Order: sequence, then structure tokens, then C-alpha cells
Amino acid sequence: MKIVHRALDLGVSLIDTGEIYAFGRSEKIVGEAIKGRRDQVFLATKLFPVGLPVQVASKARASARRLGVDRIDLYQQHWPSPMFPPGATMPRMMRLVEKGLVSHIGVSNHSLAQWQAAEKSFGGPVLSNQVRFSLLNRTPERDLVPWAKANGRVVIAYSPLAQGLLSGRYQTSAPRNFRRVRPAFSAGSRARLQPLITALTEIGARHGATAAQVALAWLIRRPNVVVIPGASSVRQVEHNAAAADIELSDAEDVRLGELASAT
Ligand SMILES: NC(=O)c1ccc[n+]([C@@H]2O[C@H](COP(=O)([O-])OP(=O)(O)OC[C@H]3O[C@@H](n4cnc5c(N)ncnc54)[C@H](OP(=O)(O)O)[C@@H]3O)[C@@H](O)[C@H]2O)c1
Repeated sequence: MKIVHRALDLGVSLIDTGEIYAFGRSEKIVGEAIKGRRDQVFLATKLFPVGLPVQVASKARASARRLGVDRIDLYQQHWPSPMFPPGATMPRMMRLVEKGLVSHIGVSNHSLAQWQAAEKSFGGPVLSNQVRFSLLNRTPERDLVPWAKANGRVVIAYSPLAQGLLSGRYQTSAPRNFRRVRPAFSAGSRARLQPLITALTEIGARHGATAAQVALAWLIRRPNVVVIPGASSVRQVEHNAAAADIELSDAEDVRLGELASAT
């Protein structure tokens, strides 16, 4: 709650959650935290595509209830459905918009072809695609970002700090939580990251910023990209919000991109 309140105080407006996060608990916490401040928030949540397409409306209503709102600003399909084509779900999403329960529809973890297919079935703009995107995961730069730029859509970058790796904090010891077992956090992977972390730290020193802030500043230089870093403390949310004010030079941008490609 404190983290959300501080984020709102700092002018952060996009808050992203999903029905699957802690099985609805995350939506309830967000709902509590934004009470009385609804007008400051662009509220995004996600439909988990398990179940029948006919459940879309009841799932959206349940999310809105947990969030304590009568309108969801951005309702995203969390993953492409393994069972049903977009034609089964997207027209139902359109009905949510027509009824006023939802303002915009988005997708998540969709390829460009899947995003475009969702739009075709929806019959209008599917505003955003939320995908893994950071200096260490640059696939969206190939086609999602150029298409978003050309068509006025938005790429929402999740795990923009590669789950904390880009802060440099884990260069000397692995995290103590579940991330420890992920291949990206192995000693070998972390060692390969060192030149990039050194550059992030050096560039950060020039701007009076941390490595994590520079990694976020690099990402928001891409057109039509917004970032949703997770913060595990008030201090982190303060740092992440301040990253929006860092202006990297073209040379710094290129240096980071080259080192990331070599990682
Ligand atoms: N659509 C999807 O399928 C999907 C999937 C995953 C995530 N997401 C969304 O994306 C959001 C963020 O992704 P994420 O949490 O996976 O990864 P992330 O934002 O890359 O990393 C978050 C972690 O980085 C560390 N951190 C954050 N700010 C920092 C700072 N200023 N300085 C140093 N360390 C900092 C914290 O970990 P420590 O303090 O523990 O180091 C924090 O838990 C999630 O909250 C979720 O809403 C969406």
C-alpha cells in the first residue's frame, strides 16, 4: 500500500495488475490502495485465458469488483489462449467496451502476428502489448516497437530490470528468493553481465543515477514504450520514478546496446 501511495504522490499513473497475481489478492490490494484516488490512476489488469470465452464478462466484472472500480482503463489478455482463437474472445472484449466496463483493450505476451490477429477480431485498436523487454531481452525492438510507433500503439515493457539483474545488486551474490534457481541468475550468467553492469554504473555516475535507473532510462528512449518496473520498497519506487528525468546521450544509448548484444 505504501509503495502504491508513494508512486501516486510522485505522479506515477499506470498501475498494472492481473487476476492471476496471488489469485486475486493483488487486485484487492491495489483496490484498497487507490481508494479515494481513482482519478489519478490509469488502471490496468489482465484476463488469464483459462476457462471458456463465455466467462470473459464475468471475469472482467470480478476484477472490477476486487479493484473497487466501475471501469477498468486497460483490460489485457494475459497470454494468447492455447485453446481458443482470438475470434472467440475479442468480440466479447468489444462488448465490455460498448457496455462501459472497460475503456481500452490490450494483450500481453503476443507476437506481432498474434497482436494483429487480435485487432482484426476485436474490430478496432488493441491499444497495447505487454511483453518482457529490457536491455537483456530486446526481441520487441525487431517488430513490436516499429509497428507500435507506426500505428499509435503502445508496448508495455515488463521485467524492465530483468527482475533486478540490471541493478547490479546480484553481481556478488545470488538473490535469496525464488529467482536464485533461474538460469539468468546463475553465477555464469551474472559473470557475463559484468561489462554491461560496469557501463550502467559509469553512465549512472555521470548522471547522478544508479545502474537500475540508467537501464530504465535506456528503455524509455524507445518510441511508444512505457515501463512497469516492480518495486519492492518505497525507496525503489522513488528511484524508478526519477529515472524518467534522466536524458541519455545517443553515444551512451549505443554503448549500452552494444554491450547488451555482446552479453
Ligand atoms: N504480463 C506478464 O506476463 C508479466 C510477467 C512478469 C511481470 N509482469 C509485470 O511487470 C512488473 C515488473 O516485472 P518484474 O517484477 O518481473 O521485474 P523488474 O521490474 O525487472 O524487476 C523488479 C525487481 O527489481 C528490483 N528493483 C526494482 N527497482 C529497483 C531499483 N530502483 N534499484 C534496484 N533494484 C530494483 C526489485 O528486486 P529486489 O529488491 O529483490 O532486488 C524488484 O522486485 C510486475 O510487477 C508485473 O506487473 C508482467
